[in-house]
Amino acid sequence: MPKETPEKLDLRSMDITDEKKQQLKQLFPEVFREDKIDFDHLKRVLGEWVDPGKERFGLQWPGKAERMKTIQQPSIATLRPDREESVNFDETENLFIEGDNLEVLKLLQKSYFGKVKMIYIDPPYNTGNEFIYPDNYTESLDTYLKYTGQKDAEGNWQSSNKETEGRFHSKWLNMMYPRLFLAKNLLEENGVIFVSIDDHEVHHLRKMMNEIYGEENFTAQIVWKKKTGSGSQIEKVFSEHEYVISYVKNSNSGEKWRITNENDGNFKNPDNDERGDWESCAITAPSKNRNPNQLYLIEVNFNSNKSRTNLKYDIIDEFQYGNHRVIFRKLQENSDYNEMFDAEKEVAWFIRRWAYIPTSMRKIFEDNRVYLNGANLPRYKKFQSEYEGKALRSIYCNEFSTQQGSEELRALFNSDIVEYPKPKKLLQTLVEATTKQDDIIVDFFAGSCSTADAILNLSNKEKVKRKFIMVQLPEITEEKTEAKKAGFETIADIGKERIRRTIKHIKEDHKKDKQLALDEEKNSNDEIDLGFKVFKLTPSNFKVWEAPGVDIEPEKLKEQLDAFSDHLNPENEEESILFELILKSGFPLTANIEKIELAGKHVLNVENGKLMICLAEELTIEVLDAISEKEPQRVICLDNGFTGDDADALKTNAVQLFKSKEIEFRTV
Ligand SMILES: C[S@@+](CC[C@H](N)C(=O)[O-])C[C@H]1O[C@@H](n2cnc3c(N)ncnc32)[C@H](O)[C@@H]1O
Repeated sequence: MPKETPEKLDLRSMDITDEKKQQLKQLFPEVFREDKIDFDHLKRVLGEWVDPGKERFGLQWPGKAERMKTIQQPSIATLRPDREESVNFDETENLFIEGDNLEVLKLLQKSYFGKVKMIYIDPPYNTGNEFIYPDNYTESLDTYLKYTGQKDAEGNWQSSNKETEGRFHSKWLNMMYPRLFLAKNLLEENGVIFVSIDDHEVHHLRKMMNEIYGEENFTAQIVWKKKTGSGSQIEKVFSEHEYVISYVKNSNSGEKWRITNENDGNFKNPDNDERGDWESCAITAPSKNRNPNQLYLIEVNFNSNKSRTNLKYDIIDEFQYGNHRVIFRKLQENSDYNEMFDAEKEVAWFIRRWAYIPTSMRKIFEDNRVYLNGANLPRYKKFQSEYEGKALRSIYCNEFSTQQGSEELRALFNSDIVEYPKPKKLLQTLVEATTKQDDIIVDFFAGSCSTADAILNLSNKEKVKRKFIMVQLPEITEEKTEAKKAGFETIADIGKERIRRTIKHIKEDHKKDKQLALDEEKNSNDEIDLGFKVFKLTPSNFKVWEAPGVDIEPEKLKEQLDAFSDHLNPENEEESILFELILKSGFPLTANIEKIELAGKHVLNVENGKLMICLAEELTIEVLDAISEKEPQRVICLDNGFTGDDADALKTNAVQLFKSKEIEFRTV
């Protein structure tokens, strides 16, 4: 039996105002806006005229205007690679980024603008119990860095969003708005975003999405039954189902979705049709109660010795189909309908008719689409490939459940380390329908990384290489939870470990299948990408000025001025600086990087000459010459690399040299 604790008796004296407010709420719920009374509206409800001012249609909430500032505030952070936590770092194009997704989305804007095919997110549903990350618009990175351990004396997250808090919905909307806004920039023109949600915020979410993505780009409000069996609990909100809301970036892009898994198990290829797997559909219909004039007898002669000359049907078409003789007959005008049945019973043929008229039926036969299997009813072959471009279903009742999600995680970890992870099949349905080879999929509320698990397994099954970017806050796991007991300090740690274990399982399966193992050896990364690079959100490697618009105390300003004279933070490894420069120059974190040596200095060649970076602390004219001879499109060097008495002259030379070859040159 689950443990139940009685509600505590409130020993405080009665809050009279609150009591009266509650009574008023019972009478006039419509005048309450998030626990505050709209007095003007109350007057209107009571029949008094109050000037409405300027009325506008749309969703408004306190703090909405400020969100534009949040969006526009640039990030001064970076993403630091962590090789140790990664798998196959140098080859893989999958990413796991640990950090607050607002900062991360900002950092990804330049490099991934318009490059993502599909975004799936499963944000907090605002049930009142989840942790809502405290965005502090001007100093969000700082907030992030300080946030660890932010709990009150009773061990609750300070920033959990209680319904009694008045700004309950606003807080959630303020958290979601900038993230959904920045996410849209990442989508390709034919990209799509899916957002999981339930009844707590679905109404607000749709309005907010209409505003950001455009009402015309709304595609679906998918409903899926999350609990199996009939034992669904009736809580404050009916809790048997959830939604997935979807919007495309541009409904005019002409993109067609591939619909598959609803019938996945039914697609087979028993006759080795070169068009691939097909599902068997009806091609005959009951003939009873039909106009006899429209009846066409099915006569597929499995045993061609059995002639049926006694029937009162005119033969209207006849042809050979493989080993079978196919005859179309039409009932004669004045014959008795019932005679047909008698006749048919005698010879035990089907008392059915073809579903289409003979001319259409003939075409179907000519297209080799009829499957004849002994004395079974003929069936129509509908190929899996033909489901492309159809709409996704909008209701899923028994295909997947949250229990399944938990079982999947249990199979990997042997315990329930995360509550209610999403079932893989739900995610695979969405991924499979909307993405193909080389597409990038992002989940920036990744949790236990069910999305990555689903993508890896699906891609393995289909031998299709999809790339993912998971973003997850290092949210501290609560004391006494299964996660903590299993040694996971943060949810991000769980996500990374889940990806590692999934990769391990797939590799083990490959080993079992010898041929696959051989292929893998030959072509290790061509088919599926069994790796991921881990990056962590950290302050920039460069000491940057405080973001504009922030008041700086004089002492802090002096500190910054001192720091600026040597603006490279100490202890920053070359690789971390390299990735910061790559990201901030607009290259993806998976860009191809080649380390070369020119005139005795290390130079990094990014994407085959698109960018060359030299982090040498003592630049020489020889290395600058050697770089320019390679004719890259862009060059970045350290400002500190120009040292000694001739520093200014060397800098001038460098500028001239690169300009003469039309190479963009920058220092940091
Ligand atoms: C509902 S859970 C996602 C569960 C996930 N779909 C799964 O199957 O495991 C939402 C996750 O978003 C994370 N999260 C909340 N605020 C975040 C933020 N600002 N940045 C990144 N992740 C955040 C939480 O830590 C939580 O793990």
